[in-house]
Amino acid sequence: MKAFNDLADFSNEEIAALLDLAGRLDLHPEPEALRGKVLALLFLSPSLRTLASFQAAMTRLGGGSFVISPEMSIHGIETRPGIVMDGMAAEHIREAVPVIASYGDAIGIRAFAQRRNIEHDMNEIEYTALTDLIDTPCINMESAMNHPCQNLADWKTLDDLGVPANGGKLVLSWAYHPKALPLAVPSSTLHMAAKRGMDVTVLRPGGFELPQPLMQKARAAAQASGGSVTETDDRIEAMQDAHVIYAKSWSSTKHYGDKIADEDLRSELIDWCVDDPWFDNAKEDCRFMHCLPVRRGVVVSDAVLDGPRSVVIHEARNRMLAQMAVLHQMLGGPL
Ligand code: CP
Repeated sequence: MKAFNDLADFSNEEIAALLDLAGRLDLHPEPEALRGKVLALLFLSPSLRTLASFQAAMTRLGGGSFVISPEMSIHGIETRPGIVMDGMAAEHIREAVPVIASYGDAIGIRAFAQRRNIEHDMNEIEYTALTDLIDTPCINMESAMNHPCQNLADWKTLDDLGVPANGGKLVLSWAYHPKALPLAVPSSTLHMAAKRGMDVTVLRPGGFELPQPLMQKARAAAQASGGSVTETDDRIEAMQDAHVIYAKSWSSTKHYGDKIADEDLRSELIDWCVDDPWFDNAKEDCRFMHCLPVRRGVVVSDAVLDGPRSVVIHEARNRMLAQMAVLHQMLGGPL
């Protein structure tokens, strides 16, 4: 495997093989598998899980890793293209990325969306500009519209819990948050669940529709796998017989890049906080999923997050296992 950028680049059979490997590595550790291998980790955006789980994954497989982020660089890293560097930063990302990559056998890169222009972000301009600088095997640790490591871990979580692939219903629900957040998790989760063959309902208020090209990509994946994709702003309709609610806040697509208009719209929506009554007409054992970090009492109530429906810690641990499988395939040779 040369790159892990988007779950859409892999067949369902290849994903199943990765998930089998993740399960095997959990039950039967291979502490020598990546002995002597080094993973470079470049974080241009903040992280807790991705950073810690990649470091833990490499250590468990016998390899090593190092982390670079702009705050850690004493030189400061300039990311803007075509800039005259007469400010604080003494190093440009165009040199930094190839240098960092040259120290590793693979590199993971996190670069969130700029969130100024939706076409720009949907075309993954930032992330691609960085990966175009290197030939080193590369892992997307979250870009503008993709979070494949989260998606692989979530697919594993759904499998672990016995949530049906065909016939399973996943509600991808917008939730309130005081800030406009990226589209990477909702977009790629929608695609993951559709590709898994699930019946996916996107539950969102007006103004927060996911972009049509992303809906079409998910619909095509669902069609190929026997699933379906619908959208609504009706919570009761969406939650009917749901096996899973996957909550996430995201930016208004109607006012993308317009902070004031986005804030005005979302300020009316603070009741979009997942709470027990949301589950009234769902399956009795309907699960609550979230990629974390999550704001308690804002995105979800304490009762749901601390209750038996919540599988967020299971999801987070699966990040490490899923990434161990990706690293094993990328750096460890054939299965
Ligand atoms: N879910 C996730 O990617 O978490 P971090 O932002 O903490 O890495």
